Amino acid sequence: MDRIRINGGRQLKGTIPISGAKNAALPLMIASLLTADRLTLKNVPNLADVNLLARILRNHGVDLAVDGKRSGPNPYLGETFHLTARDIADTVAPYEMVSRMRASFWVLGPLVARMGQAKVSLPGGCAIGTRPVDMHLMGLRALGAELDIDAGYVLARAPKGLRGAHIVFPKVSVGATHNVLLAAALAKGETLIENAAREPEVGDVASCLVKMGARIEGIGSSTLRIQGRDSLEGAVHTVLPDRIETGTFAFAVAATGGDVMLEGARYDLLQTALEVLERTGATVAQENGGVRVTRNGNYLEPVAIDTQPFPGFPTDLQAQLMALMTRAQGTSVIRETIFENRFMHVQELARLGADIQLHGDTATVRGAPVMATDLRASVSLVIAGLMADGETTINRVYHLDRGFERLEEKLSRCGAAIERLSAA
Ligand code: UD1
Repeated sequence: MDRIRINGGRQLKGTIPISGAKNAALPLMIASLLTADRLTLKNVPNLADVNLLARILRNHGVDLAVDGKRSGPNPYLGETFHLTARDIADTVAPYEMVSRMRASFWVLGPLVARMGQAKVSLPGGCAIGTRPVDMHLMGLRALGAELDIDAGYVLARAPKGLRGAHIVFPKVSVGATHNVLLAAALAKGETLIENAAREPEVGDVASCLVKMGARIEGIGSSTLRIQGRDSLEGAVHTVLPDRIETGTFAFAVAATGGDVMLEGARYDLLQTALEVLERTGATVAQENGGVRVTRNGNYLEPVAIDTQPFPGFPTDLQAQLMALMTRAQGTSVIRETIFENRFMHVQELARLGADIQLHGDTATVRGAPVMATDLRASVSLVIAGLMADGETTINRVYHLDRGFERLEEKLSRCGAAIERLSAA
């Protein structure tokens, strides 16, 4: 497996192009199952998870053609995917595939909505908390799907199709909202989803469904009202910029100091986290064409945050913030409220010399100088490595490749000493 080697202590300066959002691209690709026409998605990031989902969709019979393979002059422009699910050849999503990526479970709603049946393995994905799917199942049952669980698979049937329903989610779930929203677009009549996830990626999928012919009110709010259609049409849609990638690089700049333009990034998708970053002492500004992050001097102010569903501080940036706070002048308190056990990075950061105490869902971080050693992969460790004096090696970078496109290239263009050591 590849490793990444970083020589820390250098400031980042330059421009980093922000890719399309992984967490929007995945459900948008799944939306192709809803129509026999062609769905064209622009700005799709080239990531391991995207490629895995492409394989899963091909298995269902989706024809996928890719334009703009990025061997050309600008390898940072997203790819264009043309997806056509004229015939769904297979409504089974097997364990070998779904267990490798949790989001592939979201094919369940669209498949049963269009085909009246589906057999989808229960998911795997990141080992963060227990991550049940009870709300996905509750929502699809409300739409009239008959569901049985057998030998690790969900068997879904709706021979007469799905029908609209009133669904109130007991807590906010991005995945359950996607699954039910996608299914409701092909259900008869009106579906009302209350306590829907408000993450921008949900709004991006809803906007695409509108282009495909669904009527949806309340996009961007926690109440979605969907008028389903018997069939949907093709559409052309551009994936919105990745706010987690944006936040990760913004935190990296705050960590090393410097001045970087995050090209294509949108402040409004990440306001809470960027405001937290400003409280630490960085300067963040929406400028023409992107978000600019600068930080001079060594002083980093500690912060206290809770992770929350959008528009709160995203759980997907919790580890990156923690890495930054290991260098703050004082004590930070970081509480993880979305996932249990999402503190795997703590032990590795501790090996770099960080002083972090865990009590239940709360981490108390005392800022201190860090030192380098061997690590397991996490993007928070890349940030720590960029700050550390001397050399840091990060092993098992597979998890970075799942979520970050050309991470080391983007950073080294801004002056980081970071390189990939390919497994021979
Ligand atoms: C998505 C994101 C992930 C992000 C997470 C929270 C994608 C591909 N992944 O994951 O990056 O960290 O949102 O913003 O978009 N839950 C239940 N029952 C359910 C479903 C979820 O109890 O049926 C719980 C989960 O265990 C968790 C919480 O709800 O505690 C939020 O999970 P959810 O929003 O569903 O996360 P994902 O959609 O898996």
